[in-house]
Amino acid sequence: MKNILITGANGFIGSYLVEEALGRGYKVFAGVRPNSNRAFLSDPRILFFETELSDKKKLIEKLNSFKAQNGKFDYVIHNAGITKTCFKYDYEIINYQYTRNLIEALLETDSIAGKFIYMSSLAAYGPGNEKTMQPVKDSDIPHPITPYGESKLKSERFIKSLPNFPYLIFRPTGTYGYRDKDFFIVYQNIKKGIETYVGSTNQHLTFIHVKDLARIIFDAMVSPVSRKSYFVTDLNKYTVIEFNTIIKKVLRKKTIRIVFPAAFVKAVALINEKLSCITGKPPTLNADKFKEISCKNWLCDSSGLVENFGFIPEYDLLKGLTETLTHYKRENLL
Ligand SMILES: NC(=O)c1ccc[n+]([C@@H]2O[C@H](COP(=O)([O-])OP(=O)(O)OC[C@H]3O[C@@H](n4cnc5c(N)ncnc54)[C@H](OP(=O)(O)O)[C@@H]3O)[C@@H](O)[C@H]2O)c1
Repeated sequence: MKNILITGANGFIGSYLVEEALGRGYKVFAGVRPNSNRAFLSDPRILFFETELSDKKKLIEKLNSFKAQNGKFDYVIHNAGITKTCFKYDYEIINYQYTRNLIEALLETDSIAGKFIYMSSLAAYGPGNEKTMQPVKDSDIPHPITPYGESKLKSERFIKSLPNFPYLIFRPTGTYGYRDKDFFIVYQNIKKGIETYVGSTNQHLTFIHVKDLARIIFDAMVSPVSRKSYFVTDLNKYTVIEFNTIIKKVLRKKTIRIVFPAAFVKAVALINEKLSCITGKPPTLNADKFKEISCKNWLCDSSGLVENFGFIPEYDLLKGLTETLTHYKRENLL
């Protein structure tokens, strides 16, 4: 049985990575913090690797004692990260410095036998050109537009700088599925009969269902391919209207379409951020999110996944949203 460490195991994507790993017969060590909510990690086969990534010295001690008892990790998927915060510097610390701490500790203790998988994001490259509407490619020069994207790019550059380090980097686009919190707000609005847009209805998007994301990561991880990076989408492109139309269809709702002026949404996002951050809780609609939702081109090129791993997504948006929304309805959450 191969050992795998999955950090951020208790979060939305992490919990699906854990399920995929269990389904494939791995001995799964869920990397969590002492006070992480473990509601999605109830399977009795899950073992826990409890640690803070902030303290490299303690991490080294923990890895040394782990290795003495269990041997090396065959694979590590570093998925922990933050996507919103009230303090911009947190991105640098949590998304970049903690990634560095983990990799350095793994290497210094010789605790990883196989590949290191890094969960980056399309945000590391930023949006595509709005005139040509060409998809973002791996060979493009990255230009992240948020501190979140910058922190992911900085981690990628650190990983790539390590000689002979066997890594794979994945840059998922908008990831959806049951347990996600961000798209859930859109579903709730549509359920209330409100379909909202920022600035215009002309926005091109890409999506990946969380189960397809987990599946392709594991397929790629066990392949001979190493030291490469991939954008992860379901290989289709959609407009924001198509996205909302599918939700309306599945929820059987008629809606009022409201196109808010971009300046108005920006002001709301800023006020939202200031007010929510008084209580220390970063809101979903904040200044960085505004930047992202006002970009018109979030297309990216995932053809490398097809060429290198024969990726055939199981879910397009219609199938994925139907399953997701049906699940929410069954749980009386929509
Ligand atoms: N969702 C998307 O659309 C999307 C798209 C592209 C990339 N990603 C990336 O995918 C990864 C998972 O995102 P998600 O959507 O599943 O978010 P999530 O549900 O918020 O999960 C984040 C995970 O990271 C952990 N984490 C946060 N701060 C940490 C810290 N200081 N130390 C250790 N662990 C920490 C969380 O643990 P606690 O519960 O203990 O805080 C949680 O397990 C992130 O790296 C994100 O950047 C997400």
